[in-house]
Amino acid sequence: MSLADKHIVVTAGGTREAIDPVRYIGNRSSGKMGYALAEAARDRGAEVTLVTAPTTLSDPSGIEVIRIESAVQMKAAVTEATSGADVLIMAAAVADYQPKKVAGQKIKKETGDGLTLELIKTPDTLAEVEGNFVRVGFAAESQDLLVNARAKLQKKRCDLFVANDITAPDSGFEVDTNKVSLIDKDGQVDDLPLMSKREVAHKVLDRVEELLNKRTKEKKDGGQ
Ligand code: CTP
Repeated sequence: MSLADKHIVVTAGGTREAIDPVRYIGNRSSGKMGYALAEAARDRGAEVTLVTAPTTLSDPSGIEVIRIESAVQMKAAVTEATSGADVLIMAAAVADYQPKKVAGQKIKKETGDGLTLELIKTPDTLAEVEGNFVRVGFAAESQDLLVNARAKLQKKRCDLFVANDITAPDSGFEVDTNKVSLIDKDGQVDDLPLMSKREVAHKVLDRVEELLNKRTKEKKDGGQ
């Protein structure tokens, strides 16, 4: 049980940003990658908290599941869940923008051709939540994969980034497989072949374990 005694917080799914009581802005995330990570971490002996936006997946056993809908709720739930945690893995697809005003009643179709929604930025959980845990981000990109992922890793103070090219066949949203590259703080890139999301999860957790072991060693050496 290589992650015994570790508390790992994983996020999954795509957030929903309410427009009115019946409508929202969403995205195509299925939650499969985040759930696979949570289950793989549980199987390695970790205590796992899964903070999940709505998905069609059933609750995994042996995992604390916290349900949220919006990006604002995501940040609040992750802030609470990561207090004292060892690792945060943000696999959720969090909306970058939310409607400035949420209509209290269902918006009716007016005469005229269109409707303009004013959007404001959401909080960035990965970048803003404080804590001394191992921080892992995900980047789903359709162009300039490595350049974008590297920039996000630095900006969001991460130890590791999982980058996937959503234009690659059998990779990205909704499918059971993923083709990813793992990028670390030193700029090293590990291009993994196409594999199941469960296998990707274990590859990510191998790296997380290395990072945790490195931290333990540094603490020990520093304390001597
Ligand atoms: N993320 C987050 N909060 C947000 C947006 C993103 O915590 N409001 C996290 C995601 O969970 C992911 C990482 O940040 O782990 C990168 O998400 P991504 O959407 O690719 O990055 P953005 O900074 O939003 O960049 P862009 O959408 O412009 O590509």
